[in-house]
Amino acid sequence: MYDQGVASQGYFGPTVVAKKLVSELLSASSEGTPIFVDINMKNVDIIKDIEVLDAGCGTGLVGQELAKLYGQDSLPLTLHGCDISEDMMMLASNRGYSDLKWCDLTKPLDMYAHVRGTYDAVTIAGTFTDGHVGPSPAIEELLALLKPGGLLLATVRQSFFEEMGFGKVLEEVTSEGECSIVEMSEFQYLAGVVAKLMVIRKDVGA
Ligand SMILES: C[S@@+](CC[C@H](N)C(=O)[O-])C[C@H]1O[C@@H](n2cnc3c(N)ncnc32)[C@H](O)[C@@H]1O
Repeated sequence: MYDQGVASQGYFGPTVVAKKLVSELLSASSEGTPIFVDINMKNVDIIKDIEVLDAGCGTGLVGQELAKLYGQDSLPLTLHGCDISEDMMMLASNRGYSDLKWCDLTKPLDMYAHVRGTYDAVTIAGTFTDGHVGPSPAIEELLALLKPGGLLLATVRQSFFEEMGFGKVLEEVTSEGECSIVEMSEFQYLAGVVAKLMVIRKDVGA
């Protein structure tokens, strides 16, 4: 139902996030730092030992888009998912996720305390939105899960970005010198709706 609904509205969030993730991810890692280079599917085998969390994964459309990009159901990276809705996650279970956990992104992610600093990337598509999740504490909590050099890739509707003060929260996290904005672009998110794609890197040494 959700999948058909968003498909009929021309929803591009998961496609854009998955493409960006893959285009950033493709090279060997050195000393624990993920290396990010251009997409080249011939190199797919070198994407291993990569841990990705898809936060607010819903029915797993990011996993589905990654599988399309790799042309295989079994992803060469380890994709974890979390969401507040067990029902949505049930649909994600056959979309490449190694595990799916309940979470509430409006609160501190204490359940992930033991895996802070271990993810190469965190994706969050379509979940920073009205009635769901705002920028705080989620941005800081998700950044805390990243390894140094890891990436947070997020979509936020333009109107929600402004209304909820995402700019201020980003200023705060970047001014602490722990992360940098790699990309802040706009794309057509749904028919007639523009969103930002934010890519934030946790600085090496943070
Ligand atoms: C628009 S859907 C996006 C789902 C998926 N990422 C996609 O792009 O299709 C928003 C998702 O956010 C989840 N969500 C809403 N509030 C949440 C919260 N407080 N914590 C975690 N997930 C939440 C919903 O259950 C839903 O799966």
